Amino acid sequence: MDMMKKAYSARYFEILEKRKNLPVWVHKEEFLQTLKENQIVLLVGETGSGKTTQIPQFVLEAVLNENPSSGPKGKKWLVGCTQPRRVAAMSVSRRVAEEMDVEIGEEVGYTVRFEDCSSSKTVLKYLTDGMLLREAMADPLLGRYKVIVLDEAHERTLATDLLLGLLKQTLISRPDLKLVVMSATLEADKFHKYFIGVPLIKVPGRLHPVEILYTREPERDYLEAAISTVIQIHMSEPPGDVLVFLTGEEEIEDACRKIVSKLGDQVKVVPLYSTLPPAMQQKIFDPTPQTVRKIIVSTNIAETSLTIDGIVYVVDPGFSKQKLYHPDTRVESLLVSPISQASADQRAGRAGRTQPGKCFRLYTQKSFNELEKQSYAEILRSNLANTVLTLKRLGVKNLFPLDPQMAKMLIVSPQFNCSNEILSISAMLSVPNCFIRPRGEAQKAADEAKSSFAHIDGDHLTLLNVFHAFLQNNQDSDWCYEKFINYRAMKSAVSVREQLVRIMSRFQIKLCSPGFNSRDYYVNIRKALLAGYFMQVAHLERTGHYLTFRDKDDQVVHLHPSNCLDHKPEWVVYNEYVFTSRNFIRTVTHIRGEWLVDVAPHYYKLANFPNSEAKRVLQKHYKKRKLSEERSCKLYLLR
Ligand code: CDP
Ligand code: MG
Repeated sequence: MDMMKKAYSARYFEILEKRKNLPVWVHKEEFLQTLKENQIVLLVGETGSGKTTQIPQFVLEAVLNENPSSGPKGKKWLVGCTQPRRVAAMSVSRRVAEEMDVEIGEEVGYTVRFEDCSSSKTVLKYLTDGMLLREAMADPLLGRYKVIVLDEAHERTLATDLLLGLLKQTLISRPDLKLVVMSATLEADKFHKYFIGVPLIKVPGRLHPVEILYTREPERDYLEAAISTVIQIHMSEPPGDVLVFLTGEEEIEDACRKIVSKLGDQVKVVPLYSTLPPAMQQKIFDPTPQTVRKIIVSTNIAETSLTIDGIVYVVDPGFSKQKLYHPDTRVESLLVSPISQASADQRAGRAGRTQPGKCFRLYTQKSFNELEKQSYAEILRSNLANTVLTLKRLGVKNLFPLDPQMAKMLIVSPQFNCSNEILSISAMLSVPNCFIRPRGEAQKAADEAKSSFAHIDGDHLTLLNVFHAFLQNNQDSDWCYEKFINYRAMKSAVSVREQLVRIMSRFQIKLCSPGFNSRDYYVNIRKALLAGYFMQVAHLERTGHYLTFRDKDDQVVHLHPSNCLDHKPEWVVYNEYVFTSRNFIRTVTHIRGEWLVDVAPHYYKLANFPNSEAKRVLQKHYKKRKLSEERSCKLYLLR
């Protein structure tokens, strides 16, 4: 491409040779011709065929050729490529910047929530599907874009599904905008039905055969089974890297440690999950010496989003974390659940990229046959409250881009004279966990550091303490390091807070604080929290466990071990319901039963509630309140 006037580096030509061998290159001319003649193009190709890294570059080349100088309002035209996962957006854009011989953030950039690595020079931008949806809220016609590439459409994430719907309309209003929908082979037919008459380009994969091995008996503990399978592979199989699929950060770190302790330097073990810092994420692509086997332990990011060359063995325990929604309890949770057959086949395919491989399924052939054929689209597994608001936002101006509980809490916070504090807490709730808890020796130090922020009334107040301390220490990264605080999360919180302040001022919501010495400083904050999250309350029963308190249904839950409370309060408000080995409520704060009566009498009408201790306690509060109202009324009459 002649957009960069400087000469290319030797590395550029070296990578170019490799790129030209990717299956999509065979279809380059066909693809560009089809795109020229059509507004929408579907492209289906096996994982690893070069869709994500190459197609947007082909598109860019065409856009630059056809629009040498002009762009909207003097700005450059953009080619956008969406990814369901932020890790993929960051990692792939870096790779593409390297392929194009440019600095990341200049001609090639990425945007993910709370992090924008793009500039006025950017012409090719990778972004999460959620971010493009946000951009569409600000500018429904997506005026800066010339071509949008929706990647990984087969994943059917909520945001991608919404974009598919939205873009179908946008393309009518913007005849000059083009759309490329890309998908691994799964579900391609559905997209073809959705976009009737749209050309479909199929890129055949170049997969080597993969031998599939099942266990004879079901495994009791898939984590242990996965670890021992890795060790067995290392001991008895010829050279080749290993990819292990687990479900989340904790499990992955745990497995990595155990593998290292068994195999030491003979292997290089690399974790991969979404909250891993970007520099660590890049490590999966680092080559290892020939004598050292690389073992990647990953969430299903590595299923289709990221292609890692050199994998010969896949270990598939058959699970992933999936979002589930229980309409009865209105609770959305992340649950470790069996994967679908389509996912299992994708996973197995990862073993045959460079040579014939093997996939070890840690379940029986019979279990495989009983799996769902396809995973359900996320839209079928989600609480649609946010989605409805998003949709309204796309059509209706001036709606809050927040979840309803948080929006309510912010709106009422001036009544409790604490909108400044509630803003900070909201910001902290919107970013990843700020507490770092390393394993091993440092763990104790980390716990001590955390306890220095702890507020006995709860985790929300603890988060507020951390936020205040971060500001007091001039947002210093060394301070964060010392205190085991995640610096990036804190910087994000500061920027989220700024965004929220702008929204508040647009709605003329007063910014105020209850003087720090006020006796009711924390009480007011806790009441404001409850005013927003009144549907997320749990009561401590005499049996010693908590029961969530909702009409129609209640659930036994436990305080998440990360909580900062020094006792078990009778009533708590919680931010999140995590459904893992047990039902946990996470980020909890102590509240008082009588506040429920004050703050949300419309909800706590009780007639609909199942009989429980909590209900009887609340009934007493109602009675007490009625009595005291009557008494003050009598006193008034006696005067
Ligand atoms: O999107 P698709 O699965 O079709 O393929 P891709 O992600 O474009 O990957 C094409 C090739 O680029 C693969 O051989 C990857 O291993 C390689 N790649 C890489 O070497 N480093 C990256 N950070 C990303 C991709
Ligand atoms: Mg891809």
